[in-house]
Amino acid sequence: MGHQLQFSQDPNSKHLGTTVWDSSMVFAKFLEKNCRKGRFCPSKLKGKRVIELGAGCGVAGFGMALLGCDVVSTDQIEVVPLLRRNVEWNTSSITQINSNSDSFGSIQVAELDWGNEDHIKAVAPPFDYIIGTDVVYAEHLLEPLLQTILALSGPKTTIILGHEIRSTIVHEQMLQTWKSFFEVKIVPKAKMDSKYQHPSIQLFIMGLKPLAATAEKANSAVSSASENRTQGIDQQVNEVETSKSDPQKEVICGSSTSIDDSDSELKEDQLPLTRLPNGKLSEWEARRYGSMAARLLRDIKIT
Ligand SMILES: C[S@@+](CC[C@H](N)C(=O)[O-])C[C@H]1O[C@@H](n2cnc3c(N)ncnc32)[C@H](O)[C@@H]1O
Repeated sequence: MGHQLQFSQDPNSKHLGTTVWDSSMVFAKFLEKNCRKGRFCPSKLKGKRVIELGAGCGVAGFGMALLGCDVVSTDQIEVVPLLRRNVEWNTSSITQINSNSDSFGSIQVAELDWGNEDHIKAVAPPFDYIIGTDVVYAEHLLEPLLQTILALSGPKTTIILGHEIRSTIVHEQMLQTWKSFFEVKIVPKAKMDSKYQHPSIQLFIMGLKPLAATAEKANSAVSSASENRTQGIDQQVNEVETSKSDPQKEVICGSSTSIDDSDSELKEDQLPLTRLPNGKLSEWEARRYGSMAARLLRDIKIT
């Protein structure tokens, strides 16, 4: 979007939010690719209120702010200082150093622990957009996240989530939960940036279904999704490309873990071999290989 942003990470922290996760980059690059016309162009987004949940370093929120939105970037208290530093640094770089900052909206930081009613009230819902990337990585997060999304939503709220599939169980439970409450569209890979995409990373664009609003429904949906998770994903999802974009099978083969996704030409063991002239991996390739290595090493203890 014409800006070069810098995000500090904290490699010494054990908190997940102090690292930039790949789906946030896929999300920001998706916005960049789709901001010339349609719902993501700055003239449509100018002044829209956006909240980012579990923002971490804040990459996805900056994508929306660069298109004119007024963003509240939120996370747990432990992550807030680093998030604030990243927001302040990049905001001043965009507004002072770059002359090309006309479409920039604003971005503020707030503590928001999912399910905390005081935190939710303090950010003054409802929002036009609720965004989050890589915010569902464990089953126990689904219920507080869903309740928070419902509490922050109004009838016209759009929810955009980026998700990297790491566990088929969590993924299926998540989809079933979302589908109980939202009309779910899965962004086809063709709409994503040609480089910043991966078979295991999905973007969901969702709107509230009518009558889906109570906390009790949220509770029962999450527990019934949990009970039903082995029954597979129901087929009524309103996907942009219904038959193609729903990876359901995780295959562990040889030295690589790949997600079966017929929509994409990219497979993890067939990463595009675009190499830099000096033979090094591109930054995105290096990130993806790193992610694969982390997954393979997840259960290995070095003593
Ligand atoms: C995997 S990180 C992703 C960070 C960032 N969205 C990204 O894509 O780089 C998950 C984020 O969710 C946040 N998170 C987890 N549980 C949360 C909770 N109960 N309330 C608020 N944030 C939470 C973490 O603090 C962390 O920043």
